[in-house]
Amino acid sequence: MEFESKCIHSGELDDQNNAHIPPIYSTSTFKFNSVDEGVKAFLGENDNYIYSRWDNPTVNATAKKIAELEAFDLKDENGNLLQLHGKMFSSGMGAISTLLFSLLKNGDKILTHGTIYGGSAELMDKILPKSGITRKNLELKDLNLVEENIKNDSSIKLLYFETPANPTIDCYDIEGLCSIAKKYNIKIVIDNTFCSPYLQQPFKYGVDFSIHSTTKYLNGHGTAIGGVVIGKDIEFMKNEFQTTFKLIGASLSPFDAWLVFNGINTLSLRMEKHSTNAFTIAEFLEKHPKVSKVNYLGLNSNPQHELAKKQMKLFGGMISFELTNGFDAGVKLMDNIKFCTLAASLGTLDTLILHPASMSHLGVDKAILEEHGITDSLIRLSVGIENVKDIIEDLDQALNSS
Ligand SMILES: Cc1ncc(COP(=O)(O)O)c(C=O)c1O
Repeated sequence: MEFESKCIHSGELDDQNNAHIPPIYSTSTFKFNSVDEGVKAFLGENDNYIYSRWDNPTVNATAKKIAELEAFDLKDENGNLLQLHGKMFSSGMGAISTLLFSLLKNGDKILTHGTIYGGSAELMDKILPKSGITRKNLELKDLNLVEENIKNDSSIKLLYFETPANPTIDCYDIEGLCSIAKKYNIKIVIDNTFCSPYLQQPFKYGVDFSIHSTTKYLNGHGTAIGGVVIGKDIEFMKNEFQTTFKLIGASLSPFDAWLVFNGINTLSLRMEKHSTNAFTIAEFLEKHPKVSKVNYLGLNSNPQHELAKKQMKLFGGMISFELTNGFDAGVKLMDNIKFCTLAASLGTLDTLILHPASMSHLGVDKAILEEHGITDSLIRLSVGIENVKDIIEDLDQALNSS
């Protein structure tokens, strides 16, 4: 099956009534026909479901579908089709925190970059240190620097990154980072949220885990918060990770899993349209006199265009740009937007626009913002799948009034 067909046909579950669309198994627990069956279920000697915090047919079908898409057409070291195992969570943050708690212990350090999602950064700065787990930020584009740091600091046990990264749409070399992680035997985790498996398959280059906030492109319609962890060490995923998963308990509800399941049916169509719309808008913005800089990996002028071309199928729906007239211009632009939606989040059908300096990052120290490329006039756009003319018309009139 090709990728587009897998979006629709993977993860099908056996239903005794032959339901065409996977039913929502809205049940907290599952019955046993005998004590013997129950004992075997608890011992893992049969495939019975026990309790929905642990496993649920609708949730598992969705996890299976995402894992199959991440593994699409990839081979393992022995030349066999790559097998991946996924677990779903009640949020992207649930996925990230459960994975980090299951992999790390007191004294361990995470090597990452300064521009990871704010919630992930806060988790690493405020919560994990209480368990003796700390974070070191580095310019991960500099592979020599990454290798030097890992070589000289044996407490670094995990490399964690996002590509493309917020809000400057920076691109990191997945293959390069994986080869360093492998050489020094440390785990490597990617947050693949901005791409979805349609645009980027990080297991091709050797990551150990891929996580997503399914709230974004996988759900695609902005109807539910959710997350997923996909791993290639099946033994670890089914035992140690499953135990941490069960005990932290950030499990996804069957209804929310069902929304993601159905959202994925149109993933390939949506990602194509997000990407082509974004490319047209990036070209429009690049020529606009009120815009001083456009961050979009699809533009030939982008210094990381070639790297992005190597590891991404298309360049995705996320753009950021800077205005020529600073903070006030950003506020005016946002106030004049009519068609696009002023909102945080990303990956929905409609175009979402955000001015970090006056919205999501208001109150954050200016020096810290500048260090991470969040200037006063930076605007972030999650390009939707509407007719691109409507998006451009709206941006043009709002830019001209800024
Ligand atoms: C790249 C990225 N990772 C993780 C998260 C966290 O996901 P959630 O909000 O579903 O917990 C977000 C949320 O915006 C995100 O943008």
